[in-house]
Amino acid sequence: MRAKTFESRGDTNVKKMLVVYYSRSGFTGAVARRIARDCHADLLSIKDVKPRSGALGYLRSSLEAAMHWGSAIRKISLHGDYGLVVIGTPVWFWNISSPVRGFIRLHRPALKRVAFFCTYGGSGATKVLGDMAVLCGCKAVATLALRDDEIQKDMGGTKLVDFASQLNRLVEQPTRERAPRAGGAETFAHS
Ligand SMILES: Cc1cc2nc3c(=O)[nH]c(=O)nc-3n(C[C@H](O)[C@H](O)[C@H](O)COP(=O)(O)O)c2cc1C
Repeated sequence: MRAKTFESRGDTNVKKMLVVYYSRSGFTGAVARRIARDCHADLLSIKDVKPRSGALGYLRSSLEAAMHWGSAIRKISLHGDYGLVVIGTPVWFWNISSPVRGFIRLHRPALKRVAFFCTYGGSGATKVLGDMAVLCGCKAVATLALRDDEIQKDMGGTKLVDFASQLNRLVEQPTRERAPRAGGAETFAHS
């Protein structure tokens, strides 16, 4: 599967952003599409190999998440040198969803600079955001957790707007840039 490209960023010095997500019932997908639109990012949906609908799909999802299993996902090629990869997961049984766990395990070497978001019913978001950092092996530059009722009300309102603005600022900042300092000396700016 290839990333769907939104309107590309005009400035060639600006590194591209990818939003990658899994969604079983639509909440995470809706948030991912909004972030991709507001950040002019590429968008990639993680797809199951086996269907996951109905009560059996719910039970299987809970079990996989509780056991920390990464489920089989359709093949994804990460094209492009992304300056920032934003990963979105629903919370399942107080854990990362198994398709997102599978994705991170497969693509960890390409996940050098990351931001996370999760959607949830009411509990487990903080733990899941922490677990994602451990799984990726790097700290997120930004995180967002949105409950289903916040998404239904106004797509997370200012929380989502602020997150997207933060991502836009971060992607415009080179990770390690030489900047001349007053007085002629040079310094390194870190993001
Ligand atoms: C198998 C399963 C387990 C879930 N476990 C939790 C949970 O532990 N805590 C929580 O707050 N919500 C839980 N939820 C609710 C989802 O996190 C929430 O509805 C999320 O927004 C769904 O995202 P999606 O529509 O993109 O699939 C669970 C949902 C499913 C399907």
